Amino acid sequence: MAHITCFTVQKGGAGKTSMTVNVAGALAGAYGLRTLVIDADPQCNATAALLGPEYIEAGYAPTFADVLEGRATIAEAAVQKSFPTLWTLPGSEALVGYEMARDDARRGRVIHSVASLLSDAIPDEIDVVLIDTPPSGGIWLQIALAAAHTYTVVATPDDFSASGVLKLIGTVDQVCADFNPALRRAGFLINQYRRTSEGDQYVRFFRDCFEADVFGVVFPLRGVIGSSRGVRMPVELYERLYRVSTPAAPLFRGVAAEWMQRAGIERRGAVPRLEGEQRGIAMEPELEVAA
Ligand SMILES: Nc1ncnc2c1ncn2[C@@H]1O[C@H](COP(=O)(O)OP(=O)(O)OP(=O)(O)O)[C@@H](O)[C@H]1O
Ligand SMILES: [Mg+2]
Repeated sequence: MAHITCFTVQKGGAGKTSMTVNVAGALAGAYGLRTLVIDADPQCNATAALLGPEYIEAGYAPTFADVLEGRATIAEAAVQKSFPTLWTLPGSEALVGYEMARDDARRGRVIHSVASLLSDAIPDEIDVVLIDTPPSGGIWLQIALAAAHTYTVVATPDDFSASGVLKLIGTVDQVCADFNPALRRAGFLINQYRRTSEGDQYVRFFRDCFEADVFGVVFPLRGVIGSSRGVRMPVELYERLYRVSTPAAPLFRGVAAEWMQRAGIERRGAVPRLEGEQRGIAMEPELEVAA
């Protein structure tokens, strides 16, 4: 049975999609796990990052919404790209329609039925499912948490972060009570760290509050995240093809390895080398954000 998880927080721009896409890349590309990214955000950023924005603009189908409407299975709709063991179930704007369930009883039925579908319909060959969620505490976050075995809080070391983390903890409590009492927190992952006194102060604050729950890997700012997204591939693959001066792939592998340990997931056998990997095709100018 696949392990379902999400990297999330109720705050925009913290790096939910970047973590989802690139931890998925590391799980599939470095640890041999058969990994499925489900884009449950109507913004479709995970789909754009892994398959390209043209995939959404061209209206390729089937998407996640088609699966939910019974027009396709997950196996039919999931697109394999970048690694032989990495699939994306594309999002679409049609997901917005699910937010329209206004009254609590109807919302509850929708959350329950979509979460059950996700739990029951994941193909047997998938090891890990990562669900990318929108920044709000709306129905898609609740569905992801209702379906998940674990979740990881993505926190940025700044003063806006705490309220997004607290809101998420409130949503988790509600979803645990209503739908998923077995949901576990894998931990808090600090992203977009800069080595400044403010950055260090916030890291200390998270460690004081949440102790061993905070990932040992603190993820710094790395411009290569945007560069790899521009060519529609996870950093794990991008850095195998291009030499990058300040690589991020080892950091994502570190996050993925720590996540696997926290979630209780074992790696699979060796991953075959990819065509072009040995060539070191080009020296990519690193777009590192100044610290
Ligand atoms: N560690 C990092 N270093 C540099 N840039 C980063 C890092 N993490 C995320 N970003 C950048 O921050 C922006 C927001 O990231 P991302 O889209 O992953 O956030 P999000 O939480 O999914 O946003 P949304 O709430 O809109 O879904 C993107 O431009 C991304 O490239
Ligand atoms: Mg996002």
